[in-house]
Amino acid sequence: MDPIRNPYAPGAGSQPPELAGREALLDAASVALDRVKAGRHERSFIAVGLRGVGKTVLLNRVRELAEARNYRLALIEAREDQPLPLLLLPHLRRLLLELDRLGQLSEVVKRALRVFKSFLTAIRLRQGDLELVLDIDPERGSADSGQLDADLPELFVALGRAAKDRGAAVLLLIDELQYIAEDELGALIMALHRTAQESLPVLLVAAGLPQLVGQMGRSKSYAERLFAFPEIGALNDADARRALAAPAASAGISYTDEALDEILAQTQGYPFFLQEWGYCAWNIARLSPICRQDIDKATIEAIRKLDSSFFRVRFDRLTPRERDYLRAMADLGDGPLRSGDIADRLGISVMTAGPLRGGLIRKGMIYSPAHGDTAFTVPLFGAFMRRSMPVWSPRAASKDRRKP
Ligand SMILES: Nc1ncnc2c1ncn2[C@@H]1O[C@H](COP(=O)(O)OP(=O)(O)OP(=O)(O)O)[C@@H](O)[C@H]1O
Ligand SMILES: [Mg+2]
Repeated sequence: MDPIRNPYAPGAGSQPPELAGREALLDAASVALDRVKAGRHERSFIAVGLRGVGKTVLLNRVRELAEARNYRLALIEAREDQPLPLLLLPHLRRLLLELDRLGQLSEVVKRALRVFKSFLTAIRLRQGDLELVLDIDPERGSADSGQLDADLPELFVALGRAAKDRGAAVLLLIDELQYIAEDELGALIMALHRTAQESLPVLLVAAGLPQLVGQMGRSKSYAERLFAFPEIGALNDADARRALAAPAASAGISYTDEALDEILAQTQGYPFFLQEWGYCAWNIARLSPICRQDIDKATIEAIRKLDSSFFRVRFDRLTPRERDYLRAMADLGDGPLRSGDIADRLGISVMTAGPLRGGLIRKGMIYSPAHGDTAFTVPLFGAFMRRSMPVWSPRAASKDRRKP
C-alpha cells in the first residue's frame, strides 16, 4: 500500500490513529476534571504500565480534555537524576503569573507569588541560570524552611488558593514519574494531600512504570488511598483488532481474519507492537484485504526494526553481568519469576544477585510485581534476549565474568 498514506504511528508518544481500549479511563478522567473544577473532591490518578503500552499518549489525551475545560496546565516529563523542584519551578512560576494576569489585583494571588519567591530562595536555586526571576518580595516564613516536604505543600496550597480565587483549575501532568526520588515523591504526595483536604482545584494526572505503586507506598503509606492507580496494559482481543482495522478501514483497506489473528499472536496486543506490525503490514501488502502472507513478511520486518531500535537501545545500556541476569530470566520464562530462581539459574546466591537486580530496577529494565518476584518492564523482552544471546549457559556466563 502507498507508504505515504500509512496511518499507523509506531513511536514514543506518537498519537495512534485509533486510541483503542482506553475509553473507561478517559471517561473517569473527564469526570475527575469536571469535579475538581467544580470544587469537589477527586483523587488524582497515576496510570501505571510497562514500556510502550500508551501511557504518554494517554496523558496527551487527558491534556486535551483539560484544555477543553480551560484548565491551567503544567506538562512535565521527569528524568533520571533531575530533582523535582527543578522540574516543577518553571511551570509553577508560569502558572502563577498566568493567574496573576487573569483579572484584577488579587491579594491571594500576590501572596502565592510571594510564597513561590520564598520557596525559590530557600532551595537556593541559581535563579539567574534558570531565569526564574520574580519581581516580588518573598513571603518570609512561608515555604522557605528548606525542607521540601514542608515547603512544597505550602506552595501547592498557595497555588490552589490562587487558582480558586480566579475561578481557575490547575492540572499537573507528570510523565515517567518513577524517576522522581522517593523523598521528593513523598513531598509531592503531601502537597496534593493538603490541596485535597482544602478541596482546592489542583489535580495530578501522572504516568509511570509499575514499580511506581511501591515507590509511592514506601514514600507515604497513605498514598494508596490518596491516588488511584489505573493499570494500563495490552489491549484485549476486540480492542487490539479495532486498533489495527479501524485506521485501515478509513482508507478503504481491510484485513483477513487470519491476518489479524497472526498480528495479535505476535504482538500479544501490546499497543506499540500493534502500531509497528500495522505499519510494516501496510507497506508490504499490495492488495486489500491484507492477508496472512503479508503478515508473515511484516513479522520479519517488524522484529528486525524492533531489535535494532526499541530493544537495542535498552540492551546497549546493560553491563555484561546485567545481560546475564536478564538472559537467565529469559531462560526461565516470560511471566514474573521468583528472584531466587533467577539467582539459581545464574549459579549465584540471592545475596550476590541483589545489587545486580537493584541496578536493573533503577535502570527501569525490571520491576517487582510482588515481593520476591521479578519481571521485565519491556513487553516481549525475554524473546529478544533469547534472540540476541542464542547460545548462553550460566557456566559460560560466570566463566566470562572471570576474564579480566
Ligand atoms: N490505545 C492505543 N491503541 C493503539 N495504539 C496505541 C494505544 N496507546 C498507545 N498506542 C501506540 O503505542 C505506542 C507507544 O505509546 P506511548 O509512547 O504512549 O507508550 P508509553 O507507555 O508512554 O511508553 P514508554 O513507557 O516507553 O514511555 C505509540 O506508537 C502509540 O501510537
Ligand atoms: Mg511514555
